Amino acid sequence: MIKLIDDRDLARSLRSDVRTGLTSAPKQLPPKWFYDSRGSELFEEITRLPEYYPTRTERAILTLRAPEIARITEAKTLVELGSGSSEKTRLLLDAMLTHGTLGSFVPLDVSEAALESAVDALNLAYPGLSVSGVIGDFVRHLGHLPDGDNRVVAFLGGTIGNLEPAERASFLTGLRAVLHEGEWLLLGADLVKDPAVLVPAYDDAAGVTADFNRNVLRVINRELAADFDPAAFEHVALWDSDREWIEMRLRSRAGQRVHIRELDLIVDFEEGEELRTEVSAKFRRDGLATELARAGFELRHWWTDPHNWFGVALARVAG
Ligand code: SAH
Ligand code: TRP
Repeated sequence: MIKLIDDRDLARSLRSDVRTGLTSAPKQLPPKWFYDSRGSELFEEITRLPEYYPTRTERAILTLRAPEIARITEAKTLVELGSGSSEKTRLLLDAMLTHGTLGSFVPLDVSEAALESAVDALNLAYPGLSVSGVIGDFVRHLGHLPDGDNRVVAFLGGTIGNLEPAERASFLTGLRAVLHEGEWLLLGADLVKDPAVLVPAYDDAAGVTADFNRNVLRVINRELAADFDPAAFEHVALWDSDREWIEMRLRSRAGQRVHIRELDLIVDFEEGEELRTEVSAKFRRDGLATELARAGFELRHWWTDPHNWFGVALARVAG
């Protein structure tokens, strides 16, 4: 396992994100802090919920298209950003191994716990494949991806939508800069659809997403000796039809004061005050094609499901 982030590094960036986010107005926290080992397990639970259509829809698309993706790209190295369990990625690994080109797989994730169990399982399932896990941040560490030729970078699950538009543009430009002409980006993007389908995916009846959202408070309690009462915050998922994104918030049920001992910081919440924890942008084919083109990628293939709920884009690094 290659570690581009050590524990000190992680602690330093958590401290700075929490201080900045909780002293700004409105208050906010960046989403990568959801994913400690409990957070990663809760996310896996989300992927199995009846309301959470993205995972199973993307899986259905990949099941149909993986052989085509293997043929078109002739991938020698598959890199996966925000890989989590890499469960759907096995469809790509199987197809690329059958096609006979693939030699190595490089999953990258900030969550050490999730990556470790994924790599162990992959090593067992694919004894002939070289699997090298990278603990890193896909916003900061793209420059450290292993070099190669015929690389395909997979970024699945709609995680691209968790970046805000400006961050997304610099992410795509940065990714383009480390790839060679002719290499590929395989991007899974959740699509704009009826809010009656969208909203429940982020506010499920069993309350798993609510628990996941509150997990960020538990992470801060543990890592920074804070005294958040997670139950004192209500989970909110809103569809913003102008910006075409789902916004996740935690709403304070009462006026309360939180101490973050390690930061020597006191944070007051008013009753009803909201802390923004995550956006999940939804896309349209043309908008995505434009964003890709601006960053130097050419959209070559676009696959969706029969409902047009989820899109998988295969884009080539333009010369
Ligand atoms: N690709 C998987 C998991 C998606 S959940 C799927 O499609 O199901 C998002 C994943 O991205 C989590 O595993 C989380 O730990 C990781 N992640 C979130 N922010 C990250 C960042 N800045 N850098 C690297 N990984 C990140
Ligand atoms: N990438 C996932 C998505 O945007 C992450 C996710 C699913 C998520 N449910 C969530 C993030 C709830 C925060 C809260 O669909």
